[in-house]
Amino acid sequence: MKMGVGILGCGPIAQMAHLQAVSKAANAYLAAVCDRATDLAEHLGAYYSAKQIYYDYEKMLADPNVDLVIIAVADEYHVKNAISAIKAGKHVLVEKPIGISTLEVEQLQVDLVRSNCTLQVGHMKRFDPALVFAHRFIREEIGEVVAMKAWYCDSVIRYDMTDSVLPRILSSGEAEQGRSDQNKKNYFLRAHGSHLVDMVQYMVGPIIDLKASFIERSEINNWFVQGHLQGGANLQLDLTIAIQEDWSEGFIVYGSKGTVSAKIYNPWYHKTAEVFCYSLRSKGRFQPVDNKSNCFQLQLENVVSSIRNETQQIGTDLDEAMIGLKTLLAIKQSAETGTTLNPVEMTGDLL
Ligand SMILES: NC(=O)c1ccc[n+]([C@@H]2O[C@H](COP(=O)([O-])OP(=O)(O)OC[C@H]3O[C@@H](n4cnc5c(N)ncnc54)[C@H](O)[C@@H]3O)[C@@H](O)[C@H]2O)c1
Repeated sequence: MKMGVGILGCGPIAQMAHLQAVSKAANAYLAAVCDRATDLAEHLGAYYSAKQIYYDYEKMLADPNVDLVIIAVADEYHVKNAISAIKAGKHVLVEKPIGISTLEVEQLQVDLVRSNCTLQVGHMKRFDPALVFAHRFIREEIGEVVAMKAWYCDSVIRYDMTDSVLPRILSSGEAEQGRSDQNKKNYFLRAHGSHLVDMVQYMVGPIIDLKASFIERSEINNWFVQGHLQGGANLQLDLTIAIQEDWSEGFIVYGSKGTVSAKIYNPWYHKTAEVFCYSLRSKGRFQPVDNKSNCFQLQLENVVSSIRNETQQIGTDLDEAMIGLKTLLAIKQSAETGTTLNPVEMTGDLL
């Protein structure tokens, strides 16, 4: 039986990703959409054949056909809406980043533990089959991780390029506007840095200390980060928004018995990463190839299966997301003070 999904928010990310993902998922159907912008909710609800259309979130939460809520609203509303959902007994797939402050995420942690609900944060790149392969290869084939280098460089030309493949995004004067993109640096850390940090955490675990430097010049916002992983491995990160070149994202992990590298594509191309895995044991290089590449659809199918205990949850859970938020706070503060920081000790907000 398919699980009923309610989408909160019919803005850009719902239109670019989640509405399609629900309509294509093998184990889910669109039980409801909800947006305060009545025109968006009505148009998209009708187009995607939602069983119900709501303008009031509490009413959607009272709908017994909605088992899982996808929270697709601005960052500062994630935690509040996630808490309401789990209090109503609904499972949650919430867009990244998990929230804007450690305090609010702590409250969510308390409420989630008391519930029987599953919560997952929408770091959809974890569901790219080639990156799933890389994750396994790092654990099983390359021995001790010695160092990782990872980069995420947005591109000044990417909107021209993605406009060609994305549907025209509908907007509305009635839409609830977030204010979380007013501080540009914090917005870049949350919007883009969260993907970079989650990729590191997924591949090699949490960052245990880091020192960052930041420069803004010619509208290029660049963070270079030096740090360490558990076990003492070296880490080097490059987060740059945006470069005068095409999108550039990837990583390389050096292990004592092998190496894994990945070139990751802009998500809107739905193209699996190019991953190369070399193993000393097999004296060969593997390049995984998979035909499934809609990470948003795979993410949804996986969270539904994990709620039903049919599979393991491989998406970002709340504790990992909290470490990710603390890591972004450490990058911000270290770049401001020049000190080496341990992410676990960080508190504060990134608004
Ligand atoms: N995974 C990714 O790669 C990716 C990419 C882009 C955006 N995002 C994330 O997606 C989230 C949403 O982004 P967006 O650009 O679609 O946001 P947006 O703010 O432009 O749109 C959100 C929509 O939700 C509605 N809304 C907000 N609060 C509501 C409420 N309480 N009740 C009913 N309707 C409500 C608004 O009216 C609006 O139409 C952000 O957190 C962003 O970081 C993720």
